[in-house]
Order: sequence, then C-alpha cells, then structure tokens
Amino acid sequence: MNAEAPQNPTHTEFRRQDYRPPDWLVPAIALDFDLGIETTRVKATLTVERNGGHDRPLRLDGDEIQPLAVRVDGQDADWSMDGDTLVVAVAGDRARVETEVAIYPASNSKLMGLYASNGMLCTQCEAEGFRRITFFPDRPDVLSRYAVRMTGDKAAFPILLTNGNPLRTGEDGARHWAEWEDPFPKPSYLFALVAGDLKPNHDSFTTRSGRKVDLNIWVREADLPRTGHAMAALKQSMAWDEETYGREYDLDLFNIVAVSDFNMGAMENKGLNVFNTAYVLADPDTATDTDFDNIARVVAHEYFHNWSGNRVTCRDWFQLSLKEGFTVFRDQGFSADTGSPAVKRIDDVRTLRAIQFPEDSGPLAHSVRPDSYVEISNFYTATVYNKGAELIRMMRTILGPDKFRAGTDLYFDRHDGEAATCDDFVKALEDASGVDLTHLKLWYSQAGTPKVTASLDQDGGTAVLKLAQTVPPTPGHPVKQPMPIPLKVALIGERSGAEIAPERLVILDAADDTVEFDGLDEPALLSINRGFSAPVDLQVDRRAGELEKLAASDSDPFARYEAIQELMMRWLIAAAQGEVADIEPVIRAVGDTLRSNQLDAALKAEAILPPSEAVIGDRMDRVDPDAIHGARERLRAAIGARLSDELSSAQREGGAPGSDLSSRAKGTRRLRSIALDFLAAADAQAGARLAKVQFDAADNMTDRSGALRVLASLDMPERVAALEAFYRRHADDPLVIDKWFGVQAMAQRPDALDQVRELIRHERFTFANPNRLRSVAGVFGMNQWALHHASGEGYRFLTDLILEADKVNPQVAARMVPPLGRWKRFDDQRQALMREQLERIVATPGLSKDVHEQASKSLG
Ligand code: ARG
Ligand code: ZN
Repeated sequence: MNAEAPQNPTHTEFRRQDYRPPDWLVPAIALDFDLGIETTRVKATLTVERNGGHDRPLRLDGDEIQPLAVRVDGQDADWSMDGDTLVVAVAGDRARVETEVAIYPASNSKLMGLYASNGMLCTQCEAEGFRRITFFPDRPDVLSRYAVRMTGDKAAFPILLTNGNPLRTGEDGARHWAEWEDPFPKPSYLFALVAGDLKPNHDSFTTRSGRKVDLNIWVREADLPRTGHAMAALKQSMAWDEETYGREYDLDLFNIVAVSDFNMGAMENKGLNVFNTAYVLADPDTATDTDFDNIARVVAHEYFHNWSGNRVTCRDWFQLSLKEGFTVFRDQGFSADTGSPAVKRIDDVRTLRAIQFPEDSGPLAHSVRPDSYVEISNFYTATVYNKGAELIRMMRTILGPDKFRAGTDLYFDRHDGEAATCDDFVKALEDASGVDLTHLKLWYSQAGTPKVTASLDQDGGTAVLKLAQTVPPTPGHPVKQPMPIPLKVALIGERSGAEIAPERLVILDAADDTVEFDGLDEPALLSINRGFSAPVDLQVDRRAGELEKLAASDSDPFARYEAIQELMMRWLIAAAQGEVADIEPVIRAVGDTLRSNQLDAALKAEAILPPSEAVIGDRMDRVDPDAIHGARERLRAAIGARLSDELSSAQREGGAPGSDLSSRAKGTRRLRSIALDFLAAADAQAGARLAKVQFDAADNMTDRSGALRVLASLDMPERVAALEAFYRRHADDPLVIDKWFGVQAMAQRPDALDQVRELIRHERFTFANPNRLRSVAGVFGMNQWALHHASGEGYRFLTDLILEADKVNPQVAARMVPPLGRWKRFDDQRQALMREQLERIVATPGLSKDVHEQASKSLG
C-alpha cells in the first residue's frame, strides 16, 4: 500500500451491553411538512419528559440536517451541535421543544429519510432514517403519538398519506393540506409519509370482531391492473393472522404504496406499508410464479409486523430478530398453509444454506442477537432474519403448537405497546408453557452453524444412534458451548420401505449422545433432521445404497428431497476432486423421482435440481470454482442424456394457461424449465431449439424467462434472438428489464465477465436504482464461476462497482461486499487477489461507514 494512503476512519462501535434507557421520553410529536421535491421544510413540536432523576440535556439525533430554529416552550432555546446531534438545555422535567429544518428529497440518493422517486415523495426510516427528516431521539424505545400536517402542490401531490387516520383536509389555491393522527404510540422508525400522483386499488376487510378496514394499494395509474395479487394476499394474511395467532388489525385503514426506488423489499410502517414495486406488481405476462409467491410472502410479512414489530416493538436494534426472526417464521407459516408445506420448507432451507450458512462460517458471522455493530443497516442479515426464524421454529417444535400459541398470546398481551427484548419473548413462552428454555437461548448468543455427525449401529432388533456436535469458532468467539439441537428422527425399513420406528424428537444437548431403538425386525435406514428440525450442518455415516433407498421411500418429503440432494452432492464433490464415482445411483434416483406417481411436479422439480455451485463449494475444504463448475456441468449433461425421455415429456407437459396460479400449474412450469436445462446441458443445439420454442410459445413469464435463462448460457444464435426479443417486448417495464439484466449476469459462460461489463455500459443501467444495481452487481456476486475467474478480473470488477455504488447509496453498496469476504475458502492465489480488492476498498478516501465496516471485517 502506498505511504500516503489515508488512515482508516474510526467509526463508533455500539455494544448491546451498553444499553441505557433514554434520558428523555417524547410522548407526543406534531410534524408540519411543507412538501417539495427539491426542498421540504419540516417543523417539529416535541413534548418531552425527563426520564428519571438526572440533569442531562436533551439530545436529539440528526443526520445531514441543520437546525433553522430551536425553541423551548416558545422561547429561543440554548442549544448547540455535538457532531450531528442537537443538544438542547431544558430546565424543567417537561417541555415543548420546537425545531425547524429544510431537507432536500431530490438529492437524497441514499433513499433513507424523505426522498424522491419517480416524481413522488416517500420515506424510509428504519433503522435510522427519521433523523434525516427531523431532530429526534431516533431509537426504538422512544414511543410517541404522532400528529402530522402535510401541505403541498395539488397537481404534483394529489395524494397525501401518513400513518394512522386522516382527520381534516383543505385547499389553499394551487396547494392543499391534510392532517392525520396515529392513535398508536410508535417508535420513529415506523413513521412514514407519501405524497404523489397515485391511484388506489381499493378493497375492504372485515375483522372477526366486525371492524371494517379500508384497504388501498397505491400505485401509478398504469400499474393498477397488476395489483390484484397483492390485494388478495393482503386479505388472506389478515384472515390467517386472526386464525393462527389470534391477531386482529387495529385501525380502520391500511395502505400499501409501491415505490420503484427502494433499498429493501418493503417496510411495515404503521398503517402505511411502503413496498418495492417488485413486491407488489404482478401479472402472468411480466411476473414469474416465484415473483407471485414472493409478493404474497412479503405482503404477509409486512402485515404480520403490525403485531410482531409495531404493537410490540424492539427495545434496541440488537433485538432486531425479536421482530424479524419471528415475523419471518410467521410468514413461512402463512406460505406453507396457503401453498405446499413441503415445497415451502425446501425453499426456506435452500435460502438458509445458500445465504445464511456461508455468512455464519465467514468473517461477517454474528449471532442472531448481535453483540455489537458499527452500522445497523449491515445487520439486516440472513442470520437475524432466517436463522432467527429457525430459532423460533425450534421453540415451537419443543413446546408443541398449543403451548407455543399460549406463549405468543402471553407475549403480545404482556408487552402490547412496549419495546421488548428477545429475553422477554422467551420468558413469555416459558411462563405460558411451564417449559424451561434457558439452554435454547444459546442460539441467540452463539454464532456459527453447529456441525453434527450421526451414525446408526444395528445389532439385530436394536440400533444405537450416535450423535456428536461441535460449534465452530466465529470472529471474537473462539470457544463454544454445545447447543440444544432438536432432531426429528425416524427409522425406515430397508426391505419394506416403511417407518419401523415412528418419528420422535431427539434433543442433542451435549457434545455427544446416544439414542436406542428396539424391536426392529429388519435393517434400518436413518431418517434424521426431518423437516430440517434444526439449522445444522449434518453429516451422516451412510452405507452404500442407503441414500438411494431413502430417496425412494422416506416418508418425510423433506428428508426424501435431502436424500436425493445428498446423493448428487456426494457425486459432485467426488467429481470435483477428480475422483471416479459411480453416477448410476444418481441417475436411478433422479429417474425414479421423475417417473414417480406419488410426487407432484413441484416436489420433483425441487428434488432433482442439483445443488448450486456455491453450495457445493461450501461442502469442500478448498473451493475450486472451475472443478465444481465442470463437475456440475457433467452431472447435468449425464442426467439430460440418460433421462431424455422423462425430461422431454416433463418439458412438454401442457395443460394450464399462464394465468393458472394453482400449485399444480406452478409445479408443472417449474419442472418444465428445470427439465429444459438438463436437456440443453446434454445437447446444446437441440436444447437451444427447444428453449426457443418454449420461449416463443410462452404465455407467461415463468416459461419465458425459464427458457431465456437456459439460452443465456448457451453459445447459440437463439440466445441473441431471444435476448433481443425479450428486451423489445418488455422495454417499458423496469421490473422485467431487471430480469433481462439479471439473466445475463447469472449466465454460465466463459465470457461472462465481458458480458457483464457490457451490461454496465448499457443505457438502461444505473447505480441510482437499487433493483437495477442488484440485478447486475448483486447477481454477479453470486455467480461463483464467473466471479472467481482465476485472473482476479471478477474481483476487480465487483470492487469497481462497490466503490461506484458507495458514492450513491452506501447501504446497497455494503450488501455487495460479502462475496469478497469468502477468501479464506479459496486457493492462495485467489485469496491474495480477493484481499487485494478488499484492501483497495478499505483504503478508499471518503468511504461510507457501511462499506468500511463490511470490508474491514471481511479482511478478518
Ligand atoms: N423492517 C423491514 C422488513 O420488513 C426491513 C427494513 C430494513 N431497512 C433498512 N434500511 N435496513 O424486513
Ligand atoms: Zn421484517
């Protein structure tokens, strides 16, 4: 590094142990907005109350704002700035504090606070965006009642929305105003405001106690026809939460607004959810079946936050999983109940393995309830969300559904209107169930995916299951305690294929343990971690032939899927290491699966889809991207060639039109494109022809993009033709253009990097829109073979993108860093190349704290 390289900035680290209650409470706030795209003026009137006996001044958080005026009880105040914080002297125990600021939505490219998108104004305040709107104790344990007045140009902002209920409106020449009030005290991160030219899809829902709730999904007029699915999902979610958790909606109005520039998926602001358009708009011509499912999932997730997050919120951001892990668990239950539970579980576990396991074994590993952070935005992670959901799932598995429900009832009841902790949640479950969950709480504090080994030794009618666990070290935590690991276990008869020992719950809560099974009248096959009852990395000692039999007979659909996957995985690892392995058992298992008349198409599709290159790499000591890619290609080609009849008929399977969104129709489509992919791997020419036929004939986006995805990796004339046709057909739809970018960034081609470089130069590429940026940079970061090209050019390219993106939107740029942090898993040469780029990031002057935290931690 050069001698003049700038010093790393020092950023404050926040620690969970340092929590202190707020010095001042703000029971009420009145906000007055004079709205403009370029400049918006915000007057805030805070009713503040001293919290406890102390003489500390009032400290109000700010971020890129300056006070134009500060008054206390109507008088000019004695105030000063401490960095971004406004410090106000308040003499008594209660006061009215007024501030005034100007903010600039059009130049707010971070998309936090109040910003402009497509001519409208909208907000994102979680986690710390409210301080970009006005001075306030911007922490989730300060709950206030909000009264909001919005004034703006009638033509530019015909619709004015905020949390709660509208009270009064009025006009004033070309301008108009609206006053709203939210009766529920809330933390500042749940504040929202939207102003723009929007049209509603209006509907209503009557709660079980008879409250009629007006529902609106607000979009640009042209998008109205694509809001039906989200509205249906909203009404289903409202009914499901009453039924499943006894939770009823609590206002007369529920609004959703779709915004095209949005950092995340969506936001649960009280009564006014703000969504990324990608999670609202859908019709069969422009959205895939997966998009439809994701829309329902996210609509449900944000709606469920009304209780798990809003009515009961978090004491501090270390407790984020209190609302996010629980709410993900709730949305998983919703998706399972309204679709196929087995397919949903497979999908959830796929996400966990693809994203959370690597996070948990790398330099950014942190526990579900983190101990420290520099930038809280970096902790909206798969660990907090998805491992957090697994933790709740384990609690439910251990308590059983009835005690779990009694526990959540007690939790909501006990903490309604409060800011709670993860410990409060567990305490409520314990008090309601009488079950001690102390040991299980280790899952909140210990990071790292436990490694569990299992083997079954049988002697006549008796079998002994031997279990052992280790929890790997993670940054800052070298030594780990054994975790309680709930494993659902059954034994399957090797001859009969029947359950010869019914499923039972085994809790491994020591470093090792044994479990006995008696009365067995045939050799037993071990079916373990059924339904993925524990989020662990499980290695089972298997005899030859065992996996193949389980793949054909396991009574748990998830375990059956696992057996097929493991069969493929073992072949792939051997092949990637240059060993000769027998592919016949894989071909038989995949063939039997395809021919099965017990399994539906969706399950078949999940089962036969080979593990991704990244997941294969995760199972190897040293990731060899080229060898893994080669092995996976050979597997796909062999399956495609040997099972071409079965695959061709699955690919041709007709039936439902694209508008049919039944599980059956979606499963058929999913299997179709997976079959196509195998066939193209075996014969590129025939595959390209077939893909083009599927592409041209498609009456829905699932089939069309499935074919395009296959073509994008082939070097056939059909590829260019299809990419051009797709672009022309959907040129006016940004969400589909994102798919067009993404499909190319994900392509498996030797020239992938050149292709992606060209995408960045494309006129429709922009760093300013998070969806577009993710469709290239985010997707490329997951394209293992391309990113890890031995030249190191992939790393350099990704780094260029990160640095460019950081100037525009640090939060989104920081999410592009983790692939570079995986360096320890690669060979020395790649390690050096990856570290070189991380060092380049850290040494960049003016780097955001978001990217700095991720890159410096990634260097380890
Ligand atoms: N609470 C939102 C959710 O439902 C996520 C918001 C995260 N926003 C952020 N800027 N980090 O998951
Ligand atoms: Zn959430």
